[in-house]
Amino acid sequence: MIQIGTPLSSSAVRVMLLGAGELGKEVIIALQRLGCEVIAVDRYPNAPGHQAAHRAHTIDMTDGDAIRALVERERPHLIVPEIEAIATDALAKIEADGLATVIPTARATQLTMNREGIRRLAAEELGLATSPYAFADTLAELQSAIDAGIGYPCVIKPVMSSSGKGQSVIRSAEEVRAAWDYAATGGRVQQGRVIVEGFIDFDYEITLLTVRARGERGDTDTFFCEPVGHRQVSGDYVESWQPHAMSPLALERAQTMAAEVTTALGGRGLFGVEFFVKGEQVWFSEVSPRPHDTGLVTLATQRLSEFELHARAILGLPVDTRLRRPGASAVIYGGVDAPNIVFDGVAEALLVPESDLRLFGKPESFVKRRMGVAVATADDIDTARERARSCAARVSPKAAG
Ligand SMILES: Nc1ncnc2c1ncn2[C@@H]1O[C@H](COP(=O)(O)OP(=O)(O)OP(=O)(O)O)[C@@H](O)[C@H]1O
Ligand SMILES: [Mg+2]
Repeated sequence: MIQIGTPLSSSAVRVMLLGAGELGKEVIIALQRLGCEVIAVDRYPNAPGHQAAHRAHTIDMTDGDAIRALVERERPHLIVPEIEAIATDALAKIEADGLATVIPTARATQLTMNREGIRRLAAEELGLATSPYAFADTLAELQSAIDAGIGYPCVIKPVMSSSGKGQSVIRSAEEVRAAWDYAATGGRVQQGRVIVEGFIDFDYEITLLTVRARGERGDTDTFFCEPVGHRQVSGDYVESWQPHAMSPLALERAQTMAAEVTTALGGRGLFGVEFFVKGEQVWFSEVSPRPHDTGLVTLATQRLSEFELHARAILGLPVDTRLRRPGASAVIYGGVDAPNIVFDGVAEALLVPESDLRLFGKPESFVKRRMGVAVATADDIDTARERARSCAARVSPKAAG
């Protein structure tokens, strides 16, 4: 267990966030409240989390030497990756050298930064149900994988990408080339490797927030939050709610798979485990070894948000995953390309019953950039969704006059 000391003194527990976006910012606030000294790192200045940390640094996090140099300078006890696009080999070296603890483990960050690593672990080593899949390095390989069994419709994704970037659903052979070209432009690196997955015609999809934290006996136990339902548009989350009603069997299957995959990744922390569900059938899709964007809803619904759960788990403290009240979240997009935006309608938005807002403070807005989120609670999910949507709709970012 970690003994919490005094920030900015020799007894401080120092935590370094690699990635300081809106999710990192909430983790930082949770850590600050527990008396940690927090160092926020991102690739651009004045990122949301930079604004809430003790110290802020701007570096290229895909540069292993830059990460190593900063860790040697700051000497954090814990390193908390908030994004996938990090030089994870440098993290592995830092962990192996005993410089700092990587959350949840360096191996988990390596496996989950690439769709191939986590898919092979889940499907081939653990035997979890997933969509049928294949990997391809060329257009010809992609076409033959589809012809050999994946079939149509199918989903093509760069192996290294997130938030739906470079991803397409195709229905016929005529569309394969365009999907291949699109994947090449949307990947994190110009690597050109893709995964092609059979399209799962699911009834709904969920994120099962799963926490590996200190159990009653002091060892690591697995805890589950209520399932979070969500709606994705072009691979990006626009709305989420909690709890999402599930049959007991489907829920049990999802929990069993979530426990298996998070145990295999190891360490302590909160994970967002994504599943597709059709009737009683459950498919594992992917997992983030960190708070999940769809879990922003927990800021309103749970006694401890996913961010507070992550903070507690990584500090070796007990957690409580209880739901307090049904609720929903709705994303506020920038709607404009402009720096220094202002928000119209905030007061009107907060007149919506049981609503709240997070405005992330990003220095620059893009039409499709997430600039804020509305959350709301209610007796039932339908009302909570309406409230969150109407709260979000009343907020309009615009260029400062
Ligand atoms: N095989 C599939 N069958 C049906 N729908 C799919 C499939 N794969 C992905 N999707 C849809 O696309 C969404 C995004 O896919 P996925 O989670 O793999 O991408 P991502 O880029 O990692 O997104 P994020 O980073 O936002 O989680 C899924 O939530 C789901 O709605
Ligand atoms: Mg996803």
